[in-house]
Amino acid sequence: MCGIVGYIGMQAASDILLAGLQKLEYRGYDSAGIATVSGDRVRCVRAKGKLENLRQKLHGQDDPATIGIGHTRWATHGKPEERNAHPHLDRDAHVAVVQNGIVENYRELREELTAKGYEFLSDTDTETIPHLISDCLKSLKLESLQDKHAEHNEPSLFFAAVRQAVSRLEGAFAIAAICADFPNEMIVVRQQAPLVIGFGQGELFCASDTPAIVPHTRAVLNLENGEIGRLTPLGVEIYTFSGHRLAKMPRLLDWNPVAVEKHGFRHFMLKEIHEQPGVIRDCLAAYFDSHWTPETRVSPVTLGLEDALLEGVESVQVLACGTSWHASLVGKYLLEQLAELPTQVQYASEFRYSPAPMRSNTLTIGVTQSGETADTLAALDMERERRAEATVADRARLLGITNRPESSLGQLVPNIIDTHAGIEIGVAATKTFVAQVMAFYALAIDLGVRRGKLDVDRAMALIDGLRQVPNAIETILSSQEDRIEELAHDFSETSDFIFLGRGINFPIALEGALKLKEISYIHAEGYPAGEMKHGPIALLDARVPVVAIAMPGSVYDKVLSNAQEAKARDARLIGVVPDNDPNASELFDDVLAVPAIDEVLSPIVASIPLQLLSYYIAARRGLDVDQPRNLAKSVTVE
Ligand code: G6P
Repeated sequence: MCGIVGYIGMQAASDILLAGLQKLEYRGYDSAGIATVSGDRVRCVRAKGKLENLRQKLHGQDDPATIGIGHTRWATHGKPEERNAHPHLDRDAHVAVVQNGIVENYRELREELTAKGYEFLSDTDTETIPHLISDCLKSLKLESLQDKHAEHNEPSLFFAAVRQAVSRLEGAFAIAAICADFPNEMIVVRQQAPLVIGFGQGELFCASDTPAIVPHTRAVLNLENGEIGRLTPLGVEIYTFSGHRLAKMPRLLDWNPVAVEKHGFRHFMLKEIHEQPGVIRDCLAAYFDSHWTPETRVSPVTLGLEDALLEGVESVQVLACGTSWHASLVGKYLLEQLAELPTQVQYASEFRYSPAPMRSNTLTIGVTQSGETADTLAALDMERERRAEATVADRARLLGITNRPESSLGQLVPNIIDTHAGIEIGVAATKTFVAQVMAFYALAIDLGVRRGKLDVDRAMALIDGLRQVPNAIETILSSQEDRIEELAHDFSETSDFIFLGRGINFPIALEGALKLKEISYIHAEGYPAGEMKHGPIALLDARVPVVAIAMPGSVYDKVLSNAQEAKARDARLIGVVPDNDPNASELFDDVLAVPAIDEVLSPIVASIPLQLLSYYIAARRGLDVDQPRNLAKSVTVE
C-alpha cells in the first residue's frame, strides 16, 4: 500500500507524476504529494485526501522541473493529515523522499536525529529518511573537503548518502529520493516492497506498480530486495546495498494499458464483475487441454507445474489474506473432496507468528492476487526458510497462485499459477477471486487424477461443467442485474446482514459478507448455515436480512431448513437458488436465481449475485465503490 512514482527526463515532471499517481491510487488515497527539483531547490506540494485535492492545488501552477517524485498514501504512522503526507523533506528542504512501507526502527533513528538537532514536522516513520540522508551527505561532503584526494568508489555523493542511510533502516520499504544539490539523479531502493523502473526514450520512470509506467513504456526492470537504482540522464545503474554494481536488463511487458480504463461502466468494480465470463474462459484455455486423451498425458490439466512439485504430496497448507483466503477455503474443499488431500488454510498474518508444525510431503501454497501482500510474502518466506534443512523434494514444494506473476511472490517461490484475470483496479476483489477459484479447480483435478483419487470420467465431467460457467455468469448478468439493482434500494438504510452457506458455499457466504462490508460499510457476517443457531440467530429480527446460498446437492435441504429458522424470526430472506427450483419463491422473500449447476461447481456462479448486490447497495448509498474508506488494494505493510 502507498504508491510511489518518479520521473527523470525532458518533459514536465509534475504532469507525469500526477498521471502515474492516478494509476496507483488503488494503493491508498489518504493524501498525495509530489516534489520536483528545478534550479537548486526542491518544490514540494501535498494535499490531504484524494489525488483530486492535490490536482486542484497544483492547477494553474507552472512547474518546469523535469525530475520529480510522487506519493499516494495509505496511513500507517500518523493520521491522514497534510503534514504527514509524502514527500518528506530534510531540514534544508534539499532532500525529498517518498516511501512505501514501514521503517521499523524509526523511533531510535528519530531520537538520534533529534539529538543532533533535526526537527521533525510529521508523525511519520518516513521523515527519518530525508534527515538521515541529509546527515550522511553532510559527513560525506566534509570527508571530501578534508581529503580532496579521497577516492570514493561511489557513483555520486548523493548515491553514497542514500546507500549509507538505507543501511541503517530496518523494515520493509521501497523508497525514491531526489536532492536539489544533485538535480540530475534519482535514487530508488527496494527492500521487501515493490519497485519497478521503466525505460523510455531519453527518460526514466519508477513506480510501485506497472500501470503507472505502461502509458509511457513497456520496457521495465523490477528491483529486487536489497537493491539500489541510480537513475540519471545517462541511464540506470543498479547496485546492491553493499555497493556492488549489478548487470541487469529490462524486459518487455505484454499487457495493454487500455485494459485499465472503465469503458463506460460507472465503476471499475462493475466493469470487473462483467469481465468475469472472459476471465473464466481465459483460465479454461490456460488450465485444461481440450484435446486431451488419457493416452497423451496423465492429466488433462495444463498448469505447467513441475512433476516434482506435486508428486508424493500428502497434505496441503494454504497461506492467504482477505478475499484470497476465501478462495483458498473453496480450494480446501476441492483438494479434500476431489484429491483426498488433507488441507489447512491459514491466515498468513497468523501463520507468521504461530505456524503449524512443519510436516514433510506438504505442499505450501501462497495465494495473493497482487503478489505483494506483506503478510503472505513473509509467511511464505518463513516457510521457505523452515524448509532449508528439509529434503530436496520438500524444499521444492512451494507454489504461488497470483494474478501478477512478475510480483514479489513470483520472485519468492519457484512455481506459480497465473490467474489470468487482467489488472484489477476496484479495491474489492471480484474477477481475481473467481480466477483464484478456477486455479484451485485445476490444481485439485490435477492432483485428484495424478493420485488416482478422481477417475478420469468424473474429471472430464467437471471440466465440461466448468466450461458452462462463463455462460451461466452471462445469464445471471443479463437476467438478474436489473432486479438486483432494484432490490438494493430496499437496503440502503440497513445496518446488518447475515450470509449463510454450507459446504463448498460457506466460503461464498464469507466472501458475500466481506464484499458488503468493504464497499457499503454495512455490518455483515458470513456463517456456516448450520452454526446460525449457535449464536447469530440471536441477532435476527425484521431489520436483519438473511442471504442464504441454497444450491442443489448434499446440503441443499439443510440450508433450506436453516433458512426456515431465520424466517421464523421475521428476517427478510433472500435466496441464491437455482432457476429451476419451483418452490424457492414460497420460502424466500427475494430470489436471486442462478442457472442450475453441479454443487461442486456452484461457488463461482453463486458469488455473482452477491457481488452485484453489494455493488448496487454501495452505489445506491452514494459511496466510493472503487476506493472504499480505510482500505487499499495491495497491503504491503504488516
Ligand atoms: C487487501 C484487499 C483485499 C484483498 C487482500 C489480500 O485487504 O483490500 O481485497 O483480498 O488485501 O490481497 P492479495 O493481493 O494478497 O490477494
